Amino acid sequence: MERLQKVIANLGYTSRRKAEELITNGKVKVNGEVVTELGTKVKSTDTIEVENTILDNNKNYEYYLLNKPREVISSVADEHNRKTVVDLIDTSARIYPIGRLDYDTTGAIILTNDGYLANKLMHPSSNIEKKYIAKVSGLVTGYEIKELRAGVIIDGKKTAKAKVDLKKYDKKTDKSLVELIIHEGRNHQVKRMFETIGHDVIKLKREKYANLDLTNLKPGEYRKLSNKEIAILYSLIKK
Ligand code: URA
Repeated sequence: MERLQKVIANLGYTSRRKAEELITNGKVKVNGEVVTELGTKVKSTDTIEVENTILDNNKNYEYYLLNKPREVISSVADEHNRKTVVDLIDTSARIYPIGRLDYDTTGAIILTNDGYLANKLMHPSSNIEKKYIAKVSGLVTGYEIKELRAGVIIDGKKTAKAKVDLKKYDKKTDKSLVELIIHEGRNHQVKRMFETIGHDVIKLKREKYANLDLTNLKPGEYRKLSNKEIAILYSLIKK
């Protein structure tokens, strides 16, 4: 038997403090009954419902952060037998990537078998922040940076405001390094943003997805997310 708020936090729904608030606000049911008393003890067989979502406490969800290398596809299987992000993770769980990175893009991608979290994070309304660093052809001018910040038209629709900064221009190779922080996840979004201003993306890396960056992860390496990191992801989809 464990305290209800601890179980809710451990299942990655939210922090323990927020779980306490939810309990006292009548947002938590145990076996269909509202429970408002902090410290109520629950068994692993009890059904816990928070804000109308049943927490699956019998299932052990798995959550990984992978630094995707180049030439790996962001799906579960590939019809051309190319290596997938799932092939890189040693598990028998049926995990899949949250969203996509292109075949030649590297960087942060989460894999999980928690369908609820995955769907919420992938939904545009979640507005998850993604940070990219792009090596592009030519000098990206201050005017073009402002254009990217304000939004450019892709498929007839303007991209949302973004944080964009020129980090470096290498005169010798005539290439620029540009950092972008965007909240949308449209198809090939970064490459197409640069296309509209006439620069080819030569290399693209996602340095950060939500709260998760690539610290200590070389391309091809991965790690499990901590309960705290999972709770933060849950808090982002609840805004
Ligand atoms: N934008 C792209 O163009 N490609 C990616 O892989 C991710 C974002």
